[in-house]
Amino acid sequence: MLQHDVVVVGAGLAGQRAALAAAKAGRDVALVSKLHPLRSHSGAAQGGINAAIGKEDSVETHIYDTVKGSDYLGDQDAIEFFCQQAGPTVIEMEHFGTIFSRGEDGSLARRAFGGAGFPRTIYAADRTGLALLQGIYEHLATETIRMYDEWFLLSIIVRDGRAQGITLFDRKTSKIEGIAAKAVIIATGPFGRMYGRTTNAHSCTGDGVAVAYRAGANLKDMEFVQFHPTALLESSILITEGARGEGGILKNAQGERFMTRYAPHVLDLASRDVVSRAIVTEVKEGRGFPGGYVHLELMHLGKEKIESRLQEICDFSRTYAGIDPVTQPIPVSPAQHYMMGGIGTNMMGETNIPGLYAAGEAACVSLHGANRLGGNSLLETLVFGKQAGLAAAEYATKAGDAMLQPGDLDREAARFQALWNRKDGESPWAIRAELQQTMDKLVGIFRAPEELFDALRAVRRLQERYRNVRVQDQSTTYNIDLSDALEVGNLVDLAEVIVVGAIARTESRGAHTRVDFPTRDDQNWMKHTIARRTPGGPELSYAPVAFTRFEPKERVY
Ligand code: FUM
Repeated sequence: MLQHDVVVVGAGLAGQRAALAAAKAGRDVALVSKLHPLRSHSGAAQGGINAAIGKEDSVETHIYDTVKGSDYLGDQDAIEFFCQQAGPTVIEMEHFGTIFSRGEDGSLARRAFGGAGFPRTIYAADRTGLALLQGIYEHLATETIRMYDEWFLLSIIVRDGRAQGITLFDRKTSKIEGIAAKAVIIATGPFGRMYGRTTNAHSCTGDGVAVAYRAGANLKDMEFVQFHPTALLESSILITEGARGEGGILKNAQGERFMTRYAPHVLDLASRDVVSRAIVTEVKEGRGFPGGYVHLELMHLGKEKIESRLQEICDFSRTYAGIDPVTQPIPVSPAQHYMMGGIGTNMMGETNIPGLYAAGEAACVSLHGANRLGGNSLLETLVFGKQAGLAAAEYATKAGDAMLQPGDLDREAARFQALWNRKDGESPWAIRAELQQTMDKLVGIFRAPEELFDALRAVRRLQERYRNVRVQDQSTTYNIDLSDALEVGNLVDLAEVIVVGAIARTESRGAHTRVDFPTRDDQNWMKHTIARRTPGGPELSYAPVAFTRFEPKERVY
């Protein structure tokens, strides 16, 4: 059996930052990832990372913008800490080797992003996530960290009231292994692939979140699902908010700059929930293009600016939509982009299970509340990844040895055998496709109660069918059928939590818009949703929101 002090699962920015912090604190650290770390979804982040570093900007304004963006559901103590860490974090990443774009005077270039009172999004063209990932990955080599690339998480072992390690399988061989660890950090990123229209990569299936939930971890605020306003039509590839930050404008089929109706002060740079609702409303009211989309125009910015600041956007539009943004508008519509909810943690990444930590999109601190601001996600991975790494390292110095038992592996081996032996079960693909159709159609930007109840029935039928899932491919080497089967099981369980939370929350706040309860209800709903797994489904309870300085008021952009 393998043994380490701290095992980090997920090697995107949050996981790598956590591993680095724990290793620098002197612990023996393992970093496990189902992909090669440089293929993590962090690398798909385009537009930038927020930090109030200019003389004109202030940490105070960043805090206020984040609180307002969260529709007052973000915990203000966490937001304050987060915004204070932003400047030092960006500088540290630059010292790690990230090459950021520069202004004409040589200082870090900044662009405007939605919901921000000041242009504070620092960027590396429109490949910021990749630039950060490369910087930190190179820096990882300065520490002794044992990497387990292309290993897939199966379970977290909780025994005697604490996490004691994980089981997983090596995708190269399908061999089941165990890693005993005094502390486990989950940083497995997003789970947007329960939607068909999503900017998330195929691999974003919430494995760590689902596994932690099954191990007894509480999930927080899962009903809050962010839709990015501008995804490329059909493929749903992200068209960065940076495109609007650079001056891009949205127009409907009548050529109107329709955001004047929804956010008269900041127009296209309102927060994402506001812009996404506006686009859907335009389409519903007949002012969209046939097929249900609007245009994002960049042409007026000129070829030089478009091709230098928005290189990926040019490539994606040309390759996947056959249009050239230098001369033509980009057809866009909203797509699922980010989950505000996740494994409930405090500011140190601690969960309700001793020895189990979480960070990044897999976690919910809660920092983003009901709606995340663009540019705050990359920062979150680094700030709270580091926090979780430090806390786990500290815990591991005091915790007794961790132990796995042979039964922990035998259970997983029996599960694999059952998947392989089943002859006439369900294909994971069929379940995944139906889940995606359900979530796209019934759990979108505007949520109607009857649709949410339909969605819950559909998801529960899929959970039932999943019990009979089978793996046709009998190969033991990179068996995609096998990983698909495990991933879809994780997605259906997380979808259930999202829908149950959305049914319960009878108000509209941030990204959660109930057509039957169109306003925010602070008296009854200024609280976090906590979901605990029971045999009958998620059991909900509620927890208070931390307020330090800003009282809730109406959100106007
Ligand atoms: O639009 C974007 O570039 C996305 C950024 C983010 O989600 O933070």
